[in-house]
Amino acid sequence: AARHDPINLALLASCTIFAAMETKILFVCLGNICRSPAADGIMRHIVRERGLGAEVAVDSAGTYAGHTGELPDARMRRAAMKRGYDLRHRSRRVAEEDFAAFDRIVAMDDTNYEALCRMAPSREAIGKVCRMAEFFGPAYADRTYVPDPYYEGHEGFERVLDMLQEGCANLLAEVRSRIRS
Ligand code: 4NP
Repeated sequence: AARHDPINLALLASCTIFAAMETKILFVCLGNICRSPAADGIMRHIVRERGLGAEVAVDSAGTYAGHTGELPDARMRRAAMKRGYDLRHRSRRVAEEDFAAFDRIVAMDDTNYEALCRMAPSREAIGKVCRMAEFFGPAYADRTYVPDPYYEGHEGFERVLDMLQEGCANLLAEVRSRIRS
């Protein structure tokens, strides 16, 4: 009898719509041990903090498979942990299936962006690919990519985290405004 209760039906319908509205975001860099796992950890943190776990799912991958299975770079983990982000992702290479599994695929730099466009199996899939720099505000007006910190000193990692915090907050706002429009 409960199945025919109009309130239950309305609840069921809203849950179905809600599930269908989940946005899956994949962050992509080269090694998947510095920039994209940091973006992944920051976005997860913001999503959890705001109770948006049912709306947004996050993952990361790299275009290069050389670090497969590894935790993020120790320098990035240390810098992120100081800001409250515990990075536990294991590196993996981006796969063609990711273009079907994710709604937004966010490249850290132009090389990652171009590699993703070449991999995309369709025009619709290419339409999912964007650059992290698109979500930077006026403070980073001159930045067109997230610089690779791998061969840099400590400041490189801090700068990347600053940029990713800003980019993730703006990306989340954009994703949510789309859900609502
Ligand atoms: P990521 O940094 O792309 O931000 O993870 C790099 C990590 C490893 C290498 C290059 C960049 N590498 O050449 O091994």
